[in-house]
Amino acid sequence: MDCTLGWGGHSEALLEAGASVIGVDRDPDALEAASARLVRFGDRFTPLLATFSTSPRLIGEPVDGVFADLGVSSPQLDRPERGFSFRFDAPLDMRMSQEGETAAELIERLGVSDLARVLRNYGEDNRALPFAKAMKRELPKTTRQLAELIERMAPRKGKKTHPATKVFQGLRIAVNDELGELEALLAALPDMLVVGGRAAIISFHSLEDRLVKRRFRELSGVGTERDAYGHPVTPPLGRLVHPKGLTTSDDNPRARSARLRVWEKT
Ligand SMILES: C[S@@+](CC[C@H](N)C(=O)[O-])C[C@H]1O[C@@H](n2cnc3c(N)ncnc32)[C@H](O)[C@@H]1O
Repeated sequence: MDCTLGWGGHSEALLEAGASVIGVDRDPDALEAASARLVRFGDRFTPLLATFSTSPRLIGEPVDGVFADLGVSSPQLDRPERGFSFRFDAPLDMRMSQEGETAAELIERLGVSDLARVLRNYGEDNRALPFAKAMKRELPKTTRQLAELIERMAPRKGKKTHPATKVFQGLRIAVNDELGELEALLAALPDMLVVGGRAAIISFHSLEDRLVKRRFRELSGVGTERDAYGHPVTPPLGRLVHPKGLTTSDDNPRARSARLRVWEKT
């Protein structure tokens, strides 16, 4: 099961290796594009419009592998109208599923302190409060309005990363409840897999990786509570396949921060 089908790159590799794949995505555009790309695999490929939190209930039988490549896809980032990127001017949207509350509506609904919390906790931005106050004052409706507002308050001064990067990350995580969704997937994992099955998750920032690392260690009895004989109080359900996770030597800026962690149900 590929929980983050996107435009089907990873699913294609799995199908070429001989697997049957259920490809899940919450974005209808991704399902459509990947289904066209993977049509040659016939009924070995099953597309499923769902989220991490709804898909475990929909798969029925346990599977041999659960895979997730977290975050947004390049086509989502590169399509101006999706409103994920400050490189283009577009409505401030950021919804992967194309339904529910947009980023502009979220800014309008939240009070200053809740908005600051989003920017601090999800964007890890240390100017969260002044940014939140300015956003509530100006209520930006487009990516450019938001990027310019932040740039006025925190000029670039030759820095490589745009000052609005963290603000955009925080809003995107909140709009899509990305950490809540990841927690739901991590909670369901043991029941989704057959014995000997593996979960492989690629994360792109420490907020996600921390959740994956903690859950995989807990499921493997690493660092968990021990009894007087040194045995884990809760028997482990599996093992860590790469205890430290794997990183890439690829210097593609979109892959650079990736970390892959793998857990096996035993
Ligand atoms: C980084 S991309 C995956 C790219 C894919 N591996 C490929 O080869 O094209 C992440 C995808 O996961 C989807 N996604 C993210 N969070 C999701 C969730 N909670 N439920 C379902 N799909 C999600 C996004 O819509 C996006 O298409």
